[in-house]
Amino acid sequence: MAGVRRLQLAEALALGHGWRHACHALLYAPDPGQLFGRIPLRYAVLMQMRFDGRLGFPGGFVNVQDGSLEDGLNRELGEELGEAVAAFRVERGDYRSSVTGSGPHVVAHFYAKRLTLEQLVAVEKGAPHAKDHGLEVLGLVRVPLYTLRDGVGGLPAFLENSFIGAAREQLLEALQDLGLMDSGSLARFTQYFTRRSLP
Ligand code: APR
Ligand code: MG
Repeated sequence: MAGVRRLQLAEALALGHGWRHACHALLYAPDPGQLFGRIPLRYAVLMQMRFDGRLGFPGGFVNVQDGSLEDGLNRELGEELGEAVAAFRVERGDYRSSVTGSGPHVVAHFYAKRLTLEQLVAVEKGAPHAKDHGLEVLGLVRVPLYTLRDGVGGLPAFLENSFIGAAREQLLEALQDLGLMDSGSLARFTQYFTRRSLP
C-alpha cells in the first residue's frame, strides 16, 4: 500500500509520545475439511469486515492503561471477538512486523497466532456476542486459500477486496512464511499486487 513503511519493533517502540500504537492479529488453525468434498481447505484463516467496509485483522489501538502492546492486543481481541479468546493469549513471540503510514502518527504491529480448529470455531461462534459486533466489527470471514478452476474464484477474487492499511500484504506474507500455502502460487499473487500498487 502506498505510503506504508516497514520498521523494526525497536525503532517503532522508540517513536515517542506523539505516536499511537495499534496491534492486529491473524488467527489461524489447521483445517482438514474439503470444499465440495474435493478441494482441500488446509487452514482456516480469520479476517473481519470492518466498520469502514474494508477487510482487516482483529485488533486495534493500544491504550495508555495497557501494560504492553500484547496486553492492548488481547484486550482488543476480547472486545472485537468475544469471550472465546480467553482460551489463548497472543504473545510477543507471535509478533511478525510493524508499519507506519496507515494513519497519521499511527504505527501498526502485526501478529499471527496458531490455534486449534476447536479454538478458532469457538471464536467464530462467540463473535456475534462480542461487545463490538455490529459496530466496529461487521462480521468474521475465513480467507479462501484455494483457487477454483476458472483461475479467479477463491484467493485471487478475495484479494480484489479493499483492505485496511497493510492487511493484504500482511496476509500474503504470513501465508507464505507460515507455510499455509505453496510458495509458487503465492509468489504469483504477491507479484501481481506489488506490480499493481506501483504508480
Ligand atoms: N495494517 C496497518 N494498519 C492497520 C491495519 C493493518 N493491517 N489494520 C488497522 N490499521 C490501522 C487503522 O488504519 C487505524 O489507524 O490501525 C489503526 C487502528 O486500528 P483499528 O482496528 O481501526 O482500531 P480500533 O481501536 O479497533 O477501533 C477503531 O479507531 O478511528 C477510530 O473512532 C474510530 O473508535 C474507532 C477506532
Ligand atoms: Mg479494530
